[in-house]
Amino acid sequence: MAFLPESSRNLNVACAPGRYTASRTTRFRPTRGEPVLIRPARSEDIDALLGVERVAFDGGEEADLVAALLVDPSAGPIINLVAEKNGVIVGHAIFTHAVVESADGDVDATILAPLAVAPPAQGTGIGQALCREGLIVAEELGIGLVFVLGHIGYYPKVGFEPAARHGLLAPYSIDPAVADAWMVLETRPGIIGNVRGVIRCADAMMHPEMWAE
Ligand SMILES: CC(C)(COP(=O)(O)OP(=O)(O)OC[C@H]1O[C@@H](n2cnc3c(N)ncnc32)[C@H](O)[C@@H]1OP(=O)(O)O)[C@@H](O)C(=O)NCCC(=O)NCCS
Repeated sequence: MAFLPESSRNLNVACAPGRYTASRTTRFRPTRGEPVLIRPARSEDIDALLGVERVAFDGGEEADLVAALLVDPSAGPIINLVAEKNGVIVGHAIFTHAVVESADGDVDATILAPLAVAPPAQGTGIGQALCREGLIVAEELGIGLVFVLGHIGYYPKVGFEPAARHGLLAPYSIDPAVADAWMVLETRPGIIGNVRGVIRCADAMMHPEMWAE
């Protein structure tokens, strides 16, 4: 286990192999096309993974968030994963540090944001494979709770469930019409239901406009 160094101000340093995430690589067979490697991002992947964020979201906001998170000392430990197909980066997921501010003290957690798969590779299971890999690494790091703000029809496929009904509240209020888009997953049993509180995440994400759907 390793953590993003407090002193890191440089994306290449932040992405040095093994610096902040487990080093496991998983071979995944998508429903279409060649096998995919799900592995930690390396410094030479930065441009490509930011490019995946841009094309998947059709804009630069999520890429800017990723770049900000990678140099944010409050974001570590970071789990920064890419999906590589035929030597090309086609997917990216980043999990960054969060805590639940509970009445009994802070409880470590992580938040998945953003997740992106390049349009030609979408719909073949790569997004779910990136999620599952991140969940395994989070468990290995001893992180019990994983949060996401995202599509209500998507994340339950890998086990997420609405968080607020368990007393696990987002840093900023979520539009009630999409309240269930704020979701949580426990990597080991017995945490959900026993921990309640408001989540605080990396400084780069503590902006109310990021939480307005
Ligand atoms: C959302 C995204 C990450 C999913 O990754 P993916 O690799 O395409 O998805 P997978 O192949 O793992 O899963 C496909 C399944 O998810 C469903 N799905 C895909 N996107 C969805 C969405 N936005 N809402 C609900 N379900 C969705 C598909 O219908 C499919 O369902 P099925 O298995 O029942 O047929 C990807 O489509 C993407 O990058 N989209 C643009 C960026 C984005 O919206 N990121 C997520 C922000 S919360």
